[in-house]
Amino acid sequence: MKKQWWHELIGYQIYPRSFQDTDGDGNGDLRGILRHLDDIQELGVNALWICPVTKSPMLDSGYDTADYDQIDPMFGTMEDMKALLAGAKSRGIHVIMDLVVNHSSSEHPWFLEALKNPEGEYGKYYIIRRGHDGQPPNGWRSFFGGSAWEPVGDSGYYYLHLFTKYQPDLNWENPRLRQEIYGMINRWMDMGVEGFRIDSINHLKKDFSRSGEDGFTNVEGIGELLRELRDNTYGPRGGFTIGEVNGIRPEQMEEYIGEGGYFSTMFDFTCMRYRLQSPCWQGRQEEMVDACRKELFDSQRRAAGRALLCNVMENHDTPRLGGRFCPPEEISPRSKAALGTMNFFLAGIPFIYQGQAIGMEDYPKEDISQFRDFATFNLYREYQQDGATAAEALARLNADSREHARTPMQWDGGVNGGFTDGEPWFDVNPNCVRINLEAQRTDPASLFSYYRKMVALRKREDLRELFIYGETVPVFEECGGVIAYERRWEGTRVLVACNISGRPVSLPQPVSGLEVLLDNIQETPEKTAPQDGNLELQPYEALVCRITA
Ligand code: BGC
Repeated sequence: MKKQWWHELIGYQIYPRSFQDTDGDGNGDLRGILRHLDDIQELGVNALWICPVTKSPMLDSGYDTADYDQIDPMFGTMEDMKALLAGAKSRGIHVIMDLVVNHSSSEHPWFLEALKNPEGEYGKYYIIRRGHDGQPPNGWRSFFGGSAWEPVGDSGYYYLHLFTKYQPDLNWENPRLRQEIYGMINRWMDMGVEGFRIDSINHLKKDFSRSGEDGFTNVEGIGELLRELRDNTYGPRGGFTIGEVNGIRPEQMEEYIGEGGYFSTMFDFTCMRYRLQSPCWQGRQEEMVDACRKELFDSQRRAAGRALLCNVMENHDTPRLGGRFCPPEEISPRSKAALGTMNFFLAGIPFIYQGQAIGMEDYPKEDISQFRDFATFNLYREYQQDGATAAEALARLNADSREHARTPMQWDGGVNGGFTDGEPWFDVNPNCVRINLEAQRTDPASLFSYYRKMVALRKREDLRELFIYGETVPVFEECGGVIAYERRWEGTRVLVACNISGRPVSLPQPVSGLEVLLDNIQETPEKTAPQDGNLELQPYEALVCRITA
């Protein structure tokens, strides 16, 4: 694999509305990010992905863009953005933005024009078609529930929206639209943005002859669009891009992120998909971990030597990891550390989501009105249409809502967790008195300190290349509930062994000559190396060791 500057990245994802409010309006802002750059640097990461901050009515949390070139006043000004870019740069932190170009907001001026005249120039920026006999053009369903088509008044036309009806899909078959998008991307890069996390990118192309998701997911010919996009923007500029790509065939991975691929990397969402709350896994943690391990190693095998995946355990669309992998009574700093470890040392580019490094948790709601997301309300309605009572529908949302990841960042144990002096846009989890950065920063045994050590270990001069380019060799695969692998590079071997279960396990084959680099249980430098023989792992113990013999 040819070395690239971005291979060295260890990233941190910010969901700005919930990060830090500095002007008392209850919403996080760019100045808030600027305020915490030192904390981010303290963690050791060197890349920031900032979720959308451009102008938006916020009906899908900024993933509904009303102006691609302006900062939303909720987040601040262009000057704030420039100050943030400069502040990050001076700390050696690379900033990437979210690029949301499958759709815009229904308040984008292009769309407002399109509504006035569906056959006109801006009508061609969107996917607007005639219905038949009062019915939409076809039966496609939106990801957020209901038909993917919305009537344009009583004109007989419908526009396509794969997400909410406030997010009309852009028409990528229109070269003028494409040029507008390329120009916009290049303007951000001229300003110092070094790349993008690219939203929903595998839906750009549509095939109206197909039904269901096949008609708008990874449609034949999408590669031409992705190649042209790259070649006109981040490609020649050496930008770093992470594609949000779902559902491609295994053999397509290289085309997407291999040498000369459409993106630098793409998320490996494996760990996000496994949830103990899902009906099929309830009460079956060990089987779930085993299934997750198999899938994780399959994708590691596919990428080996060809590409680097972007490894994530949390993001703004998924409940917090403790509850996804552990029964409630086993959610603890230790189990969260073990879960973080099992993913962090895989081959690839790790990204840590805000709050993950301090172990933030889901905050179940007592009433539907405490949620904020349009998509949540759609689901709530759908669950009830399918026969659930209101209480059952709420329970399902509490079990699985993406909004759990969006509660405000818990900086300290004070009012609103230090997030805002005003009224927070979304309730702060009251457990901020216990779980917060201030309490953990100076505690060497805290989860935050552990994350700092993980980041430092990945960056250690003598191991840096091993963690980036080394082979990943699964080990102890027969051992239920354990995720373990070796990383090997030029004669150096490192073992990562994580017990994702509430019982002690003894690894089935003897090991010898282990030098402990990291252990989530006994976090002291005097930690003695395990004795030769069968390695015993305590419940939720994670060990990273150099194999010296
Ligand atoms: C983003 C979501 C968003 C959706 C539509 C996703 O991939 O991560 O938060 O709702 O795209 O833009």
